[in-house]
Amino acid sequence: MNKLEARILEDGVAESANILKVDSFINHQVDPKLMSEIGEEFANHFKDYGITKVVTIESSGIAPALMTAEKLGVPLVILKKQPSKILNQNLLQTEVTSFTKGNSYELTLNGKYVTEDDHVLILDDFLADGEAATGAIRLVRMAHATVAAIAILIEKSFQPGRGKLNEQGFEVYSLARVKELSEGVIKFIEE
Ligand code: G4P
Repeated sequence: MNKLEARILEDGVAESANILKVDSFINHQVDPKLMSEIGEEFANHFKDYGITKVVTIESSGIAPALMTAEKLGVPLVILKKQPSKILNQNLLQTEVTSFTKGNSYELTLNGKYVTEDDHVLILDDFLADGEAATGAIRLVRMAHATVAAIAILIEKSFQPGRGKLNEQGFEVYSLARVKELSEGVIKFIEE
């Protein structure tokens, strides 16, 4: 069991068969030491992938993505959910629908920060249906860059996200793969 899985068992709350609350160390209050260790783990796994940028989606992906980018020695680019109100000719946008939250948003990237020379690691906190990751891939491709892989903190393996991304040929590297959730029960896929 890795450190993230141990922490999920200690401080995570299985709210239902679908939702794992990790507000006390990832989504609301953030544990910097854990984020640093996660960054180390991702940087170690992806060190030979030729990554030039880490790309994440605001807001909960930012902390672990920053730590990973720092350890890989590359910039972090944050995809925004609110388009900039300042007129900008370089904006790339794609609509993402969240099944968990039941909303849609325009994922936005300034094409100045990801270009055809980039090989990108997409990193996010949760993988559920894969909609956010798929939107991020669309934007990276619109910017004519390539996707190296998808890095995830917590994958809900009983949802179709990983399958959808693997089908498109993308590697998904998740630190915690949750196979079962129910009130008071959290079970991981053991690897
Ligand atoms: P998908 O991208 O894989 O399809 O997932 P989905 O749209 O269903 O998830 C949308 C939002 O819900 C994401 O946050 C994601 O992190 C969060 N989420 C999904 N499942 C869980 C869960 O079991 N527990 C928690 N705590 N969050 C979950 P977001 O809208 O991007 O918000 P944030 O990054 O600002 O926190």
